[in-house]
Amino acid sequence: MGRYYVTTPIYYVNDAPHIGHAYTTVVADGLARWHRLLGEDVFFLTGTDEHGLKVARAAEEHGLSPQEQADVTSARYREAWALLNISNDDFIRTTEARHHTAVRELLTAAKDNGHIYKDTYEGLYCVACEAYYTEDDLVDGNCPIHHRPVEHLSEENWFFALSAFEQPLLDWYEAHPGFVGPEGKRNEALGLIRQGLRDISISRSSIQWGVEVPWDPEHVFYVWYDALINYATAVGYGSDPERFADWWPEAHHVIGKDILRFHCVYWPALLLAAGLTPPKRISVHGFLLVGGEKMSKTSLNQIAPADLVADFGVDGYRYHFLGAPPFGPDGDFSYEGMVERYNSDLANNLGNLQARVATVVGKKCDGVGPAPHPDSPLAAVATESYADTAAAWERVQPSLALEATWRLIRETNAHLETNEPWKAEPGPEVDAVLGDALEALRIVTILASPAVPGTCAEIWRRLGLEGRPEDQRLPAAAAWGGYPGGVPVEKGDPLFPRLTA
Ligand code: MSP
Repeated sequence: MGRYYVTTPIYYVNDAPHIGHAYTTVVADGLARWHRLLGEDVFFLTGTDEHGLKVARAAEEHGLSPQEQADVTSARYREAWALLNISNDDFIRTTEARHHTAVRELLTAAKDNGHIYKDTYEGLYCVACEAYYTEDDLVDGNCPIHHRPVEHLSEENWFFALSAFEQPLLDWYEAHPGFVGPEGKRNEALGLIRQGLRDISISRSSIQWGVEVPWDPEHVFYVWYDALINYATAVGYGSDPERFADWWPEAHHVIGKDILRFHCVYWPALLLAAGLTPPKRISVHGFLLVGGEKMSKTSLNQIAPADLVADFGVDGYRYHFLGAPPFGPDGDFSYEGMVERYNSDLANNLGNLQARVATVVGKKCDGVGPAPHPDSPLAAVATESYADTAAAWERVQPSLALEATWRLIRETNAHLETNEPWKAEPGPEVDAVLGDALEALRIVTILASPAVPGTCAEIWRRLGLEGRPEDQRLPAAAAWGGYPGGVPVEKGDPLFPRLTA
């Protein structure tokens, strides 16, 4: 059985979760759920990034210790992910002992291999990014990402000899064309490497809130060098070598474009330095913008997932963010756009299909679902819809996967409108049309379950089917003819009541 290890970035605990963080998490959840349908052994990791200056300062502002700040905010992330029905198998916190052990072991291995040395560092530091910049990186003298002033810092640091990994990284990218996607983001990463890599400081003596450098306890590791290692910790690095050997390097990291440099340049170089293999794949998405701008605490345009769940429901939320911005480019969030997609795709298409099929089965077949026709015109549509859905998930394009699945919903609605079973007398012809619609709906609930799991489980039950859609296995479960017929069909309440903007 294939293994699939998917990760989200670990979220800083200085601030509460907003829809930008949730975007990465929902996409990773969709991928985890899709790969479970394929029968793969899936491990889905998320968690919180709890060290560093940014967190220490937020704690100070709130009158808390860094650990208290981390405890409170980490719990808020857990709650947000539970609310969004995120199916993670583990939730890692970088303050956990297992992680400290892994960080020490991995960086010691890199040092033993001759890639870590001590030197004095002077530079311009952005606390929000937890990263150093050069004069050239700045935009109008400010951090290029946060547009805030940077600070001049000078410290004696431990350095990672990143410059030595320029060629090994280029070789790795060439040998592994699918390493970073989509294509534009791969080119961006290659551009960064080709520009030339400088050695980078990986420790701080100015702060205590971090993982202690084992060979120099006056220092803690720079938060990014501790954070990246979480992906190895969670599958047993430093604690369970056998488990680690089973899962590494299967990792598929889903990240936002602001952390591309850390994941696509620093992380594979560090792994190579420690004698380990880079992850299998890194998928990089753009930003969700609100009113054309990046969400930030200062501009007060942050939206919490719970606010939208209150209006659209959990699946309405998940459907929107998996489908609305294509994975890769930036996308602007608008409430009106979300209402529009909810009404057209969920209320009018999926919800309406379920309701109308159940109503007609109630009227024309005494509420007992007929079996599908083996040579239904919808069979070919279902086959194509499955193939396109699968290909899109494989390419990490959830919006295209949903489009392909929804094609089957639309075609099924069209099939009903053409045949108008509600106008015909009960009999074999009506049974055939309805059986085909029920079968298409059965396939839809499997294909759409990574996006809208709660709704699909409910439709499955209303169709009179046993078990849950997420327990089905592809491709077999998507083959035409699986609906048994002769089972009770229930209409139930509307799945997606229409909304007004
Ligand atoms: N702690 C680091 C990641 C360490 S991973 C080893 C971090 N944390 S973060 O909380 O600031 O951001 C985490 C993720 O949320 C990133 O992938 C980032 O791109 C994503 N998003 C934060 N705001 C976003 C949007 N407005 N839109 C889309 N995603 C964005 O970086």
